[in-house]
Amino acid sequence: MEIFPIQKIREDFPILHQMVNNHPLVYFDNAASTQKPIQVIKAISGYYETDNCNIHRGVHFLSHRATESFEGTRKMVQRFINAASSNEIIFTKGATESINLVASSFGKKYISSGDEVLISIMEHHSNIVPWQQMCIEQNAKVKFIPIHENGELDMDAFRKLVNEKTKLIAVTHASNVLGTVNPVKEIISYAHSFNIPVLIDGAQSISHLGSDMHDLDCDFYCFSGHKMYAPMGIGILYGKEKYLEAIPPYQMGGEMIKTVHKDTTTFNDLPFKFEAGTPNVEGVYGLHAAILYLQDLGMDTIRKYETKLLDYATNKLTAMGDIRIIGTAKEKTSLISFLPGNVHPYDAGVIIDKMGIAVRTGHHCAMPLIEWYKIPATVRASFAFYNTMEEIDLLIEAIIKVKNIFG
Ligand SMILES: Cc1ncc(COP(=O)(O)O)c(C=O)c1O
Repeated sequence: MEIFPIQKIREDFPILHQMVNNHPLVYFDNAASTQKPIQVIKAISGYYETDNCNIHRGVHFLSHRATESFEGTRKMVQRFINAASSNEIIFTKGATESINLVASSFGKKYISSGDEVLISIMEHHSNIVPWQQMCIEQNAKVKFIPIHENGELDMDAFRKLVNEKTKLIAVTHASNVLGTVNPVKEIISYAHSFNIPVLIDGAQSISHLGSDMHDLDCDFYCFSGHKMYAPMGIGILYGKEKYLEAIPPYQMGGEMIKTVHKDTTTFNDLPFKFEAGTPNVEGVYGLHAAILYLQDLGMDTIRKYETKLLDYATNKLTAMGDIRIIGTAKEKTSLISFLPGNVHPYDAGVIIDKMGIAVRTGHHCAMPLIEWYKIPATVRASFAFYNTMEEIDLLIEAIIKVKNIFG
């Protein structure tokens, strides 16, 4: 039988070994940001110890070495998500910037008065507001795919919403509130039968499920490094070359140009056309180490272990009787949103924190979804591969305490 090396893994994450409020830290806020293994921390400090300098432009040794590492990581990301070319890999600040880039540049080129952009009601604000604001500017409309009570997308409604006015579909691969894994392949192939491009927000799926651009066949895909054990401030936009070639640059400045004269500029080739200014080189070094870490562990192994954590926590919470789980889709990533009886999620979060356990409470940047459920907020426990069943037992004890206090 395969044994998951949990103790060795936990040793790689220094932050986990501390006391919080006189209790050993239990970190269940991984959907907001994951912790970083020592390998990632060392990659960042190593960059500053030996390689630090600006990339692409220098003829000197350090600039060559840092540029090689930076561009090598672009190729590594290409292989990690199985994209056809490294020209399709754009370094951004994260999922939010990636979506803003597409909304702005695709919007300018392809969206005009009367057009529609189709998203779902379970989207993070990052995959709502850029479309909403772009559509206001272009006099277009955002339409929302509804969900079923269990948190699965209503695919019949989705098909009915697609029409000749639909110019782009943007949906999340996995919900940050419900955990629902959406049938994105089905959405993409249906959209493509009408020649409609699709953006997939992979912020909540990449560290749990991995991703394969060739298999998915989506037109745009994005994710953030900090939700996959890499540093903050680095992320990826994947785009099919035909779209990235066609749409205008997002930001103007150095690096994204070929020539500049007083009145005219010619833009650089892909991928540099979308990378104006000095990039986050340390972030790219950290992302490289994070991808290596995930590949060493294996995405299948991670998925199996995290599913065990999810099932264990779901069974324990269900057995408590008066816990309402929000999001009971058949396919889920390893997170649970719930309402602890009639205790307000915020009050519950404060008591749970007193026991050294980090959970998130609130609307999770998905206000339209919270409104759809007509609830004030949820408590969300989101698990990573360094979490354990024993930690879930501690969460259950904390919830019992919450109920005793607010009884
Ligand atoms: C589904 C989803 N999309 C997008 C984002 C935005 O990610 P970032 O803030 O890293 O840009 C998040 C963050 O929680 C998310 O959960």
